[in-house]
Amino acid sequence: MGYRQFSNGLARVIYDDALVGADCEKLFQRDWLEANSGGATVERGTAVMFEHNGVALVFKQYHRGGLAGRLVEKTYLYSRLENTRVWREFNMLRQMRALGLPVPRPAAARCVSVPPLAYRAALITERVPDSKNLTEVLCAHPLDNASWEKLGQLIARFHRNNVYHADLNASNILLTGSGDFYLIDFDKGVIRNTLSAKEARSNVSRLRRSLDKLQGRHTPFHFSEDNWQALEKGYAAGE
Ligand SMILES: Nc1ncnc2c1ncn2[C@@H]1O[C@H](COP(=O)(O)OP(=O)(O)O)[C@@H](O)[C@H]1O
Ligand SMILES: [Mg+2]
Repeated sequence: MGYRQFSNGLARVIYDDALVGADCEKLFQRDWLEANSGGATVERGTAVMFEHNGVALVFKQYHRGGLAGRLVEKTYLYSRLENTRVWREFNMLRQMRALGLPVPRPAAARCVSVPPLAYRAALITERVPDSKNLTEVLCAHPLDNASWEKLGQLIARFHRNNVYHADLNASNILLTGSGDFYLIDFDKGVIRNTLSAKEARSNVSRLRRSLDKLQGRHTPFHFSEDNWQALEKGYAAGE
């Protein structure tokens, strides 16, 4: 039992054999996914929920970033597989699970070389059961300040473990029916030897900006200054 890697032609795959089997490459095929996800459309920027052998999973494709992102993609070589965004996110999730942090279990990742210089990549994680992202939650109902405080404490716990989340917005936070928070989407994130106060702060400010922006966009959107103070209080207590 454990993580296994294989290559198949131009594709490289890593997977956790406790979650998926050696036949997991089919889970990355558009036709298979569309047929097994109740008719979801497989496209960049949309997570696809599906089930395989009784395990609930989520598939996401990486979109190309800005200019810098594109340059990195174009210099991709197999020797740098470990440095690709998808491999880094897979391994980061693995490390955070080992640290006991609430993130989804990584199930499989695949990178396919598209000659001469490009590649395509996708990641499959285990679905966090009975969860909604914080954007969906706050469009539907408010959270009490105890929950906001708990979220602040959780963010501080990631920071104590030197985890930097490159895009901590409301859609990258999940809340379960039993009131537990998870952080997701660690694309471009990193686990530092020592996380700087500046990087830690930038995660918190990013979340604030995301909540303010969503408030301008959705009516209702249940977020108040009082909620934010509760989050900050939890964060300070968890530091
Ligand atoms: N492991 C998971 N469990 C439950 N929901 C998930 C999971 N991963 C993603 N999602 C849902 O899919 C959305 C998009 O996934 P995400 O990993 O953030 O990709 P993107 O790069 O498209 O933002 C999330 O906001 C969340 O609602
Ligand atoms: Mg996201």
